Amino acid sequence: MSGKFKAPRGTFDIVYPDSEKLERILQIGYEILIRHGYRRISTPIFENTEVFRRGIGEDTDIVTKEMYTFEDRGGESLTLRPEGTAPVIRAYLERSLYSGGIPQKLFYFGPMFRRERPQAGRYRQFHQLGAEAIGSDDPAIDSEIISIPDIYFKELGLRKYRVVVNSIGCLNCRKPYIERLTAFLESAKHDLCNDCKKRAKRNPLRIFDCKEEACSEALLKAPLMPDFLCEDCRAHFDSVLEMLKVLGVSYEVEPRLVRGLDYYTRTAFEFIFEGLGAQNAVCGGGRYDYLAEALGGPPSGGVGFSVGIERLLRAIELEGACPVVLPRLDVFVAWIEGTSRKQVLEILASLRRERLCADSDFMGRSLKAQMKHANRLGARFVVIVGGEEQKRGEVVLRDLDSSEQWTVGRSKLAQKIREALGEQWGETDG
Ligand code: HAM
Repeated sequence: MSGKFKAPRGTFDIVYPDSEKLERILQIGYEILIRHGYRRISTPIFENTEVFRRGIGEDTDIVTKEMYTFEDRGGESLTLRPEGTAPVIRAYLERSLYSGGIPQKLFYFGPMFRRERPQAGRYRQFHQLGAEAIGSDDPAIDSEIISIPDIYFKELGLRKYRVVVNSIGCLNCRKPYIERLTAFLESAKHDLCNDCKKRAKRNPLRIFDCKEEACSEALLKAPLMPDFLCEDCRAHFDSVLEMLKVLGVSYEVEPRLVRGLDYYTRTAFEFIFEGLGAQNAVCGGGRYDYLAEALGGPPSGGVGFSVGIERLLRAIELEGACPVVLPRLDVFVAWIEGTSRKQVLEILASLRRERLCADSDFMGRSLKAQMKHANRLGARFVVIVGGEEQKRGEVVLRDLDSSEQWTVGRSKLAQKIREALGEQWGETDG
């Protein structure tokens, strides 16, 4: 049975058992975030386009090339969110969340949309689990934000990654740096690829993202941001690094690390994983001290991270980490031909009321085919309704694991299943 339609390019369905793995890793992430004092926020999937234009920056790849922007029937320009930070700050300002105390520590999960060229680890709809701490410029909060994904990845059993950090300064120290870098790029322009020639004019910092070998070589002697930090930014960066040590995060300073969004100031970081190919950053983030102002609010610094969930799932698969125990169906209710459907449904509903995970046949299968289906669903028990037993108010209960079988009064069925499940738990526990 193959249909006519396919999921749009760069998007995919998340189906069982991957959907179950996703739930499990999210649950672990939420627990860690809540333990650190972060609370969930959900913002709309689309925003007024200006939120991203002003927030992320007019000259970024995201804003110039990758946004899904459309005019709605009222003539308003809307954009499917390409990331979660600008919307969270929009909500923070619109709803005066600072009045609930600062820093506001918020986390979110949801789909993001970027019209990038699809490849392994790069999709047009992907999911991020992210956190933002807004309203504090204490370097300790930067180090907390970097430590959370580190704790998360370790708790998931991941080992093969590096934490790279940099400081990209503030508006004061970045300006003279960009001037120096631009002058350098002008002198090296004959060695740069065409894209980098354009970047040199539009967004020179992004030049460090180029993967072309010739460009990397040409940039070996480029001036680097950390050498241009002003006194305050230097002190802030040194404190962040010191506190990362206190928190037990192993990091590497990477003076060429720049990020693809313009709102960053000072701290920038990424978690780079082995074996993921070109798209090897599973998490990225940093500080954004001017973002609130860019969105029309009062100055309020913030810092955050986002984990790319698809890349995280791939890293987990590669390392064989975080094995997930898939939930089992406790009981499948089968019935013999001619049995009243009402009675079957009553039994099914009563088992579910008893909080057992129960299912039944809805295809009119033969008993043999129902048993096969029960096995396919991974059921532990099958209840067979019908025949002589039913006339006596009883059913047959079969343990598919041990092949044991009992005749049980209907009123005792749930209790008997519970007992049998309990015995099994008892054995494995002790
Ligand atoms: P970002 O580096 O653009 O930062 O994205 C964060 C993570 O999302 C990346 O490291 C990657 O794992 C994942 N990701 C990004 N684009 C794609 C894609 N096309 N396909 C699959 N995964 C992708 C941000 O979005 C910032 N909002 C992070 C942040 C939060 N900064 C401060 N607070």
